[in-house]
Amino acid sequence: MSKGEEDTQDSPQSVRRGMDDLIVDTTAISWVDGEGGNLFYRGISIGELAAHASFEETVYLLHCGTLPTTTQLEAFTWKLRALAFTPEKVLRILQELPRTTQPLAALQTALAALSCVDPGERYSKEESLLEKAMRIVAQTPVLLGAAYRHHRGVPIVAPRNDLNHAENFLYMLTGRIPSKREARVMELALILQMDHGFNSSTFTARAVASTLTNMYAATSAAVGALSGPLHGGASEAVVDMLQEAKSSGDVEAYTIGLLSSGGKVMGMGHRVYRNTDPRARIFENMLHDIASEQGDKPDDDLQLLKRIEAVATKYFADRGKPIFVNVDFWSGAVYRKLGIQKIMYPAIFAAARIAGWTAHILELRQDNRLYRPKSKYIGNLGVPYIPLEERT
Ligand code: SDX
Repeated sequence: MSKGEEDTQDSPQSVRRGMDDLIVDTTAISWVDGEGGNLFYRGISIGELAAHASFEETVYLLHCGTLPTTTQLEAFTWKLRALAFTPEKVLRILQELPRTTQPLAALQTALAALSCVDPGERYSKEESLLEKAMRIVAQTPVLLGAAYRHHRGVPIVAPRNDLNHAENFLYMLTGRIPSKREARVMELALILQMDHGFNSSTFTARAVASTLTNMYAATSAAVGALSGPLHGGASEAVVDMLQEAKSSGDVEAYTIGLLSSGGKVMGMGHRVYRNTDPRARIFENMLHDIASEQGDKPDDDLQLLKRIEAVATKYFADRGKPIFVNVDFWSGAVYRKLGIQKIMYPAIFAAARIAGWTAHILELRQDNRLYRPKSKYIGNLGVPYIPLEERT
């Protein structure tokens, strides 16, 4: 049997496993400046947006391409609120799932279920796509709130008209109206994680959407991609690592042991950033502010995370590896300060990234092209069919 013929286009160097550095499409939504360690949404730096923007304003920016005027923002905000009404049937499906269900698995289920109950999958009119994108962004926190409260065995609470998106999300998670400070922390977390170039889950959303299936199917697939520990699942894994480090009694020895045995320090490293993830620094500052207000003790999360970061960064530097903390390193500790259980941490990432995924689908649909990459075949060719009775 001969090996598969090597097609000239598929010569060995053209195989880019993990699609490392492969440019597969264009986008004007966000730019991840890996060398400079910066992130831009529609050309505006994440630092500016974190300092000044609201969640609704940033979703408008991603969906519509520019910052809204006051009138546009008011209309967009009210429309998001109106679209947050979630079909009872879908909420009932969530309550039929085991209470141990991971919130991202529940969200993936609910998004697919929404495609079954949505009256019409009309793509003929552009505004119907934008309205569908807004509806999915508006209903995601409702679905996640329902999944989290089902997990905790407490009644679901519906969103309130007198709360903004971030306030409502926290209210639907905790059942209590958050303070302005708590709501701003959640709003910042959502803004920071809204979009990030062609990360695995956004690429998934685009690849599925490129077949012209409905937006629910594409976002449901993206949630599946996000749920892996190498992607959105890291924030929960960091908190688990923190617990293990704390129990070990020697954080430095624990970290060195983890790395020297080939383990990964969750929340560190990044395929694109060769410098610090700008979102990580903003999350770290948020945690620092909350910890200062609450008078944290030295062995609390902030100090332990800083010690793990210092040891791991030096370990990598000594081995010539430019590996720094990423967005997930600090986010879990911030959510813990909001009184949210760690099972929810990757789901909060999804409540943010749903805005990016839907923005990418809107962008792709303006000039759709089916995603269909090639592969390098390395199997056998010319293999004869042996009848069953002759096989040994
Ligand atoms: C997100 O793409 C995005 O933009 C994602 C994201 C977004 O907003 O969408 O930014 C969100 O997913 C952040 C990443 C969250 N995941 C983690 O924190 C999990 C831990 N990190 C690693 O698994 C890793 O850093 C990745 C997956 C994030 C990136 O890995 P790459 O680019 O594929 O690099 P690699 O795995 O090939 O690592 C290169 C080397 C390896 O060592 P060698 O085999 O060369 O000896 O660096 C090592 C790795 O073992 N390494 C780590 C490490 N990250 C890389 N070693 C220990 N701990 C780590 N965290």
